[in-house]
Amino acid sequence: MSTEVSIAASATACAHPNLALVKYWGQLDPVLNLPANSSISLNLSGAITKTTVRFARGLESDQVMINGAPPRAEAHHRVCDHLDRVRTLADISLRAEVVSTSDFPSAVGFASSSSAFAALSLAAATAAGLDLDERELSILARKGSGSACRSVPDGFVEWVAGRDDQTSYARQLLPGEYWDLHVITVVWETGQKSVSSTQGHRVAPTSPFYSARLERIGSILEAVRSALIERDFATLGMTAEREAMSLHAVAMTSRVKEMPWMSGIYYLSPQTLGLMLAVQRWRRKGLRVYFTLDAGPTVHLLCEGRDVNAVVGAVEAHLQSEAATGADIVQSTPGRGAWLCNKEGGAMVAPPST
Ligand code: PMV
Repeated sequence: MSTEVSIAASATACAHPNLALVKYWGQLDPVLNLPANSSISLNLSGAITKTTVRFARGLESDQVMINGAPPRAEAHHRVCDHLDRVRTLADISLRAEVVSTSDFPSAVGFASSSSAFAALSLAAATAAGLDLDERELSILARKGSGSACRSVPDGFVEWVAGRDDQTSYARQLLPGEYWDLHVITVVWETGQKSVSSTQGHRVAPTSPFYSARLERIGSILEAVRSALIERDFATLGMTAEREAMSLHAVAMTSRVKEMPWMSGIYYLSPQTLGLMLAVQRWRRKGLRVYFTLDAGPTVHLLCEGRDVNAVVGAVEAHLQSEAATGADIVQSTPGRGAWLCNKEGGAMVAPPST
């Protein structure tokens, strides 16, 4: 058998991770990643994942490199399963080389899987010769990681929960330039979380507060949509902050059968809590800033453009007073959706039947 690898087609795509103002937590269908509720987000312009996919003749299996190293088995299989979805859509059987790098850490509540699967979807679909529209690309990305569907459109985005595979996708609510909103993300070197969001979604219904959260989510979505349209920062910030705590209330009271020593899932670290309390003190003194958290210790602060310097100054002083080493601050505005950042290799030639 020839070991020669000849390149058929390749494409490189970039995507930003996104930050949910109304969160996705819990699923109706864990295979298709159909969410229990709709969610609203913005892409974080200060962080980026870049992914190249190269379908090649002669490759016997998919080769994956993430941040310069082969990923762990679970992540490798997740990427291969996603390539299988693309191969099925394009009706090809070629294996692929995937090289992906992100300029921010993973598994710390920075939504790395959202940019990872948005970039992988666009790069793989393009390299395979598919010409998907935004809705189709969002549907494909959702099957890799639910939140990834929201990294496909530009600006402020709503993932409409939908009823089935074809009706569950993200679309733009408002362009990013509509509002000079900023996100200041504070990341600590705390190591990766011990319970993945995939597990968190699965066990969410074991919390007595899960159904209460879902009962109220329709009115929270409505409040966030209106606050965005009216550029009502106080309503947006407080609704987003309370919404994040609702997710954590569910997580902290969820039961993970495989981890019987845990009473619930604690994604927060002591540093997270310290900054959350500091934000509330700053607000009391008049600083217009709110926080939100994903499933991890990272804190995302929301503010308007005119308050960015004051908020960054307050965060830096806080980190200094806590003698926090290894903390990083990433500044973002609402970023664009996934885009092709380098295409090479030309059109796909007729794939071999094997
Ligand atoms: O896409 P997943 O399965 O990694 O879920 C992400 C869930 C949260 O980040 C906690 C919330 C959200 O809506 O992004």
